Amino acid sequence: MKMASPYDILFEPVKIGPVTSPNRFYQVPHCNGFGYRMPRGLATMRGLKAEGGWGVVSTEEVEIHHTSDIAPYFEGRIWGDKDIANLALMTEAVHKHGALAAIELVHNGLDSNNLYSRVAPLGPISMGSVGGTGFEPVQSRRMDKEDIRNVRRWHRNAAIRAKKAGFDIVYCYAGHGLTLAMQFMTRHTNDRTDEYGGSLANRVRFFRELIEDTKDAIGDTCGIAARLAVDELIGPDGISCQGEGYEIVAMLAEYPDLWDVNVSGWSNDSATSRFEKEGYQEKYTSFVKTLTSKPVVGVGRYTSPDSMASAIRRGVLDLIGAARPSIADPFLPAKVREGQLEDIRECIGCNICVTGDTRYVPLRCTQNPTMGEEWRRGWHPEKIEVKTSTEEVLVVGAGPSGLEAARALGARGYQVTVVDGNREPGGRVLRESNLPGLNEWRRVTDWRLTQISKIKNITIYPSSPMNAGDVLESGIANVILATGAKYRRDGRGRSTRLAIPGHDQAWVYNPDDLMDGKLPAGRVVVFDDDHYYMGGVLAELLAKNGCQVKLLTPAPQVSYWTEFTLEQHKIEKRLLGLGVQLFTRHLLKTIGEGFITAEYEPGGDILHLDCDAVVLVTDRVSQDSLYYELLPALKNGQLKSLKLIGDAEAPNIIAQAVYSGHKAARTFENPEPIDETPFEVEGVFL
Ligand SMILES: Cc1cc2nc3c(=O)[nH]c(=O)nc-3n(C[C@H](O)[C@H](O)[C@H](O)COP(=O)(O)O)c2cc1C
Ligand code: SF4
Repeated sequence: MKMASPYDILFEPVKIGPVTSPNRFYQVPHCNGFGYRMPRGLATMRGLKAEGGWGVVSTEEVEIHHTSDIAPYFEGRIWGDKDIANLALMTEAVHKHGALAAIELVHNGLDSNNLYSRVAPLGPISMGSVGGTGFEPVQSRRMDKEDIRNVRRWHRNAAIRAKKAGFDIVYCYAGHGLTLAMQFMTRHTNDRTDEYGGSLANRVRFFRELIEDTKDAIGDTCGIAARLAVDELIGPDGISCQGEGYEIVAMLAEYPDLWDVNVSGWSNDSATSRFEKEGYQEKYTSFVKTLTSKPVVGVGRYTSPDSMASAIRRGVLDLIGAARPSIADPFLPAKVREGQLEDIRECIGCNICVTGDTRYVPLRCTQNPTMGEEWRRGWHPEKIEVKTSTEEVLVVGAGPSGLEAARALGARGYQVTVVDGNREPGGRVLRESNLPGLNEWRRVTDWRLTQISKIKNITIYPSSPMNAGDVLESGIANVILATGAKYRRDGRGRSTRLAIPGHDQAWVYNPDDLMDGKLPAGRVVVFDDDHYYMGGVLAELLAKNGCQVKLLTPAPQVSYWTEFTLEQHKIEKRLLGLGVQLFTRHLLKTIGEGFITAEYEPGGDILHLDCDAVVLVTDRVSQDSLYYELLPALKNGQLKSLKLIGDAEAPNIIAQAVYSGHKAARTFENPEPIDETPFEVEGVFL
């Protein structure tokens, strides 16, 4: 007899109108960079979520009409009947595993720049577009009554097409400030004086009509979900959970079959672990269940089954919504069901997945290297090809790429030996996760070490630096080098091509120094030509340590690339709050004793800043010398294979290091072709 588990509650079915979710695990809508242009990649990825036990698997936002065109982003499209077959690929993949398929219909209104369709965007008012960069020279046309009737009809037609495509749940979406329904509701984008403006009841009218229309069109067989941002986190001026958000739910309480509630904008909803912790949305959304008898799904980067079961037991939610936890581990529900809790690959909250959408490529995940590769490479997150020989492998370096290579090779059945010069494995992840706000990143290492500890054919030797002679003496003929990278000391990088004069003085530091605990004091200039998180994090560390920090960057904004992980404005605000002075578009020119000079753009004004120390956050140097020392042994047959992976091959983000390690394991004894593309390419070929 099966013992009762505290998580059984998560496996109870939930009725959503005319359909029933087999359990309480609900993959909420998330875009992915595949969108309408790569339906096979998309369907395979969604199908794997269903295989992994998610009771409901949703699409991303799916544009209902060409007036809601958010190119260059690749979302879903259901503009016409031609889109049905593509979408049906997904519903078939999801149904195969007994899950429900949900589609999030959207008209993006003021968020649509219509760069592809070239029609005037529609909005409750005529206003500058909020979509794309947020600064596009595009303004909407104020919708008249006929426009409103048209959008309602388009939404209804899309719902009928969605049903034809096989969807079980159809969304009406009013979230993230990015949808027409929400733009009608919030006073900021609705100053109308007709029955769609003014009082809250009037502003809610359009959303209510969408729900009613959809129910009327397909509600007999499909569950109708309402996704609502109950708090914009801008105070009482906007929709808030104690004000209009509360009232909207009260007004529409019994209209949909399911409430999917969250906060707005997207950066608040998909907040990173640097800014929010698991369950962070409960304080905004927990009221919803007190107002409706319909099931409620909510989100908040739930990765722990204890938090999930607790949210159900406390009456906060009926279904656990997850976007990122389902990306990091598509098999999370199956692992909870099987009691394999320590096998859950917990999301670290870095939002690299978001950069799939924001950089227009299939999504990637730091924790899950198979994400986005399910169809084009045939990678399954839980299955890997068994070994084809009795070869042994030596992995040098136990950072993210080395650990992932070892884990995956071990899972294939190979005998693997991992050596690392440091006392504790983890490489850059171990070091960086000690920096402010990055603690959860440690999960990259923790998960891999836990898995490795269960695989008998992998042995790790920490505190074991190896030179070429040691490697050859080990007698292991296959060597993977994951020896990482170190920060440059001379300040060279993408903006400063030559060494910065004065870089070689005692008061000039680099990130490795700070991570080694060598911290400067007093007035510190941080020069950030890396542009992702490191410069901002170090400025934060130093400011919290009592330094007077000035952050200088050649980019137009600090930590520029975090724009794509939805963090930039939060980082900037945090730094300003800590008293860090920000200088954008500045190139560091010289470092002297007690000062630096910087130039505003090449040839511009010279800035002179007094300081006691300088931190150079610029390029890194691959630690690849062992590779070149071992190459002759490969050529003379002493070694059978030699591979350089991760940052040792080319410095990049942690997600790429993990991916590189995973690929090395998958392709061991099965090398990729060099002249042909080693993965399936989805596209239009005439
Ligand atoms: C990569 C990514 C894409 C997303 N795309 C959408 C979307 O298309 N529509 C939507 O309503 N929410 C979208 N979201 C927001 C999620 O549905 C969810 O509300 C949010 O990420 C918080 O849930 P989580 O903590 O489980 O990730 C997206 C989130 C992520 C991470
Ligand atoms: S990329 Fe980062 S935030 Fe996104 S799912 Fe993976 S671990 Fe989580």
